[in-house]
Amino acid sequence: MSDRSLLDLQNWSPKDLEQLFFQIDHEPKETAEKFSGSKKTAALIFLEPSTRTRLSFELACAKENIDRILLDAGGGSSLEKGETLEDTFLNVAAMKPDLLIVRVPEQFPLKEITEELGIPTLNGGWGKRAHPTQALLDIATIYKEKNINFSKFNKLKLLFTGDVLHSRVFSSHQELAKILGYEIGVACPEQLKVPGTKYFTKLSEGLQWADVVMALRTQKERHDGKKIQDSDINDYQLNSESLKKLSKDALILHPGPVNWGTELSINVVNDSRNKILKQVEMGVTIRRLLVRRALAGKL
Ligand code: CP
Repeated sequence: MSDRSLLDLQNWSPKDLEQLFFQIDHEPKETAEKFSGSKKTAALIFLEPSTRTRLSFELACAKENIDRILLDAGGGSSLEKGETLEDTFLNVAAMKPDLLIVRVPEQFPLKEITEELGIPTLNGGWGKRAHPTQALLDIATIYKEKNINFSKFNKLKLLFTGDVLHSRVFSSHQELAKILGYEIGVACPEQLKVPGTKYFTKLSEGLQWADVVMALRTQKERHDGKKIQDSDINDYQLNSESLKKLSKDALILHPGPVNWGTELSINVVNDSRNKILKQVEMGVTIRRLLVRRALAGKL
């Protein structure tokens, strides 16, 4: 594993994950780690919209006593005057932050820029390539909510429903599943499946198979003109009828944001298996640990 940045999970090992899970269980709540020398600063560069990732990273930094500066593509930056994304990164880096936390589009050369800048960088979403902190918080939520022993993850069956093809969360789970050994299945319209993945044409069969189901949003912003309507995924909606096939001790997850009435019906809110807000809560813990590790050069 790189000791500076987290762009994806390709170089992580089972031992790295076991250490992270150990930290979740023994999270020191009382104080932020005291970094030697002056106070640290994290620069958040979010070039796509975000609620959970951005705010949980901000809160994680606050809990670690780290100053934050934020560039949000939502408005007010010189991107609106035609400055390139690459120049934006170079200029933020010139202010010498100790850490970058970024969300960037698919075509952005994140690996190259990270190497060029030499500043520890945490990926908060990179097109549909990777969203490693989301996959880590998902699996940490499963670990806590199902009380699975670390060595038993190879028995876990995780079903994805919805727009699998355009999901960076799914991409990161493919990497993480190789390390932890859990099995991935997908139940979605034919045109949204990922080649080489266990596929269920019928949602009911996938739900009977799964220990955990993760619904995904229809990601219209990545469809590049493809005709995929919400109605195409109606057959795969998690609702009170379809969820009768899911085991009583299974979990229902979603990385957010949820389009209620599309991939999930509103009555899932009251299903005792729904742990979506537990994922959000775990996001702060995981990101706090990752921020701490990045600044210590021990990712
Ligand atoms: N899951 C996730 O990345 O949510 P946000 O887009 O709100 O950050």
